[in-house]
Amino acid sequence: MKLKQLLIAMGALAVLPFAQSAMAHEGVELKHAEVDVTSQEQIRRGLTVFTDVCMGCHSATYVSYKGLMDYPEIALTREEVDDLREDHAMTEGLRTELSAEDAAASYGKVPPDLSLITSARHGGPNYVYSILTGFEHDPDGRIPDGNFNEYFKGNRIAMPDPLSWLDHDEADTAQLEQDAQDVAAFLAFIADPHQNQRRVIGCWVMGFLLLLTLVLWRLKVEVWKDVKKH
Ligand code: HEC
Repeated sequence: MKLKQLLIAMGALAVLPFAQSAMAHEGVELKHAEVDVTSQEQIRRGLTVFTDVCMGCHSATYVSYKGLMDYPEIALTREEVDDLREDHAMTEGLRTELSAEDAAASYGKVPPDLSLITSARHGGPNYVYSILTGFEHDPDGRIPDGNFNEYFKGNRIAMPDPLSWLDHDEADTAQLEQDAQDVAAFLAFIADPHQNQRRVIGCWVMGFLLLLTLVLWRLKVEVWKDVKKH
């Protein structure tokens, strides 16, 4: 393969993950969430939405209370973590008080653990954001209010509109959208808490490889310069 073809192929491979469809299902396009998984401010705000609202039903057991202190993207103080965890151990994951039996009895379904939800669903944080701001009145009037969601597969969702999006005051729209994006950012961060570190290391490695290529190429030119072509 010629060098140019190889470079084009490598470029295509590099953009492949971004080409993944942003469709939720049956052609419904997801809303775009403004999410910055390097922003401590946004992730912390998202953590607050998660602990105040979502944790009423959902767990995120892969994140420990200690993690909330240790990850630089969150970096709560010991006092802040103590306030959150109450009598839970530092090593315990974020676990809802709602038992699976009670959840099933109340909502008909057990709310899934959200530790990895942005990896498990197409669109990741866009999906979470769209679901939270996707509660509508069913245009066909079949699914009751609060259970109709534009972005959920089949449109009937067992989660009762956690941010009270349906029928909210116009004045609150920006705040609710912000809350939804913030919690999406928090979930996208915890799904892969080492992603930022890995990206930094990746840049250094790429830089090093480029430099090495340059040096080796110069070396090759130097070594071969006296060899006569026949
Ligand atoms: C009152 C309980 C309750 C609260 C509070 C709640 N949820 Fe849910 N959630 C559920 C239930 C029940 C399901 C299962 C829905 C289904 O499968 O129909 C669910 C499902 C989900 C799903 C998965 C949808 C899928 O594709 O399977 C996401 C994402 C989600 N919730 C995010 C959140 C976020 C973020 C919050 C906080 C802002 C939150 N939930 C608050 C009960 C709740």
